[in-house]
Amino acid sequence: MMKNLKTTYMGIELDNPIILGACNMSDNIDDLLKAEENGVGAIVFKSLFEEQVQLERLQMEEKLTQYDNIHAQMITTHPNIQFSDTKKHLVHLRKAKERLSVPLIASLNAVHEDSWLEYAKELAQTGVDGLELNLYQSPTDFDKESSEIEDYQISIVKKIKETLSLPVSVKLSSEYTNVLSLIKKMDAVGVDGFVLFNAFYQPDININSLKHKRGYNLSRKGEYRKTLRYSGILYGNINADVCSSRGIFTGNGVIKHILSGSSCVQMVSAIYKNGFEQIGVAKKELSDWMEQKEFNSIEDFRGKMAQKNLAPESMVYKRAQYVDLLMRSDNIFGD
Ligand SMILES: Cc1cc2nc3c(=O)[nH]c(=O)nc-3n(C[C@H](O)[C@H](O)[C@H](O)COP(=O)(O)O)c2cc1C
Repeated sequence: MMKNLKTTYMGIELDNPIILGACNMSDNIDDLLKAEENGVGAIVFKSLFEEQVQLERLQMEEKLTQYDNIHAQMITTHPNIQFSDTKKHLVHLRKAKERLSVPLIASLNAVHEDSWLEYAKELAQTGVDGLELNLYQSPTDFDKESSEIEDYQISIVKKIKETLSLPVSVKLSSEYTNVLSLIKKMDAVGVDGFVLFNAFYQPDININSLKHKRGYNLSRKGEYRKTLRYSGILYGNINADVCSSRGIFTGNGVIKHILSGSSCVQMVSAIYKNGFEQIGVAKKELSDWMEQKEFNSIEDFRGKMAQKNLAPESMVYKRAQYVDLLMRSDNIFGD
C-alpha cells in the first residue's frame, strides 16, 4: 500500500512531492494529462518568455507594415495589444488548467519591469494555482555590476508579490556569488517558494562540421549535489518553501532532498529520458523507503538531515568538509 506522501508547497496541498517542471511537454495537454495519470503531484507549465513575445511583435509589425501601415502604427502606440503566440500561450494555459485536476503553476521569464508585471497579471488571471518567476540570467554584459542585476531582480519580485494574491515562487540559477544573501532578501519580500536550481542552455561545438550544436542539455541522474547542499543550509532559516530541481530521477533522489529540508522536487530530464512511468516508479520507491524506515508522513523526516538538525560543529555543509574528506576518507566516490 502506498504511504501518505502529502506535502505542502507555497501553501498549496500536493498529493505527493513530485512536480513536473517547466518544459516543452506543456505543448501538448495530453502529455500533461499523462503526467497526472501517472500520479504527478503538480505541474509547472512552460515559461512565457518576453523575448519570444518581442520577437513576435517585431515580426507582426513587419507583416502588418507590408499590408497596412495604419495597423502597424496602432501596434507601436498601443504596446498592450496581445499577439498571436502570447495569446495562444494564455489560451493554452487556461485550457490546461480546466482539464487538469492537479495544481498547475504558470511560469514567466520577462526582461522589462512593465512586462514582468503585465504578464504576471495575465498569467494569474488564467486561474492557475501559483506563479513561478524564471529569473533566467546569463551574464553577457561586461560592465554591469552583479549587485545591479540582483537589486533589479529583487525589486521585480517585490512588485509582483505586492500586485498578485496567488503564491509566487522564484526559480534561480546557481550562479550567484552568494545565492544565500539573494534568497534572504527575496524571502523578506514574501516569496512563497524557491526552486533550486534552473539549468541553462549552454553552447557546444561540433568539431567536424565546425558548427554550433543546438539542443537542450538534459541533466544526468544525480546532478543534484549543489541543490542538496542549499536545501540543507536553507531549512529552518527562511519562511519560503524549497523545491529542489536538477538531476532528480528516482525515489532515492526525492528522499535525499526531503531529508535535507525541501518540501518537494521537480523532474524534467528524468521524464524525457524514462517516460511518465518514472513518476510512479519514484513514488513507489519513496513509499517503500518510508515503510522500511517507519515514517508515516513526509513531515516525519523532512529536514532531518539539514544543517539545523546536525550537531553545531558539523561541517557537512561547509567547505572545510572538503579538506576533512580528503584527509580521512576511504570512500571518495559512491552514491
Ligand atoms: C526541453 C526543455 C524545456 C524547458 N523549458 C523550460 C521553461 O520553459 N522554463 C523553465 O523555467 N525551465 C525550463 N526548462 C528547465 C527545466 O524546467 C529544469 O529546470 C531543468 O531541466 C533541470 O531539471 P532536470 O534535471 O529535472 O531536467 C526546460 C528544460 C528542457 C529540457
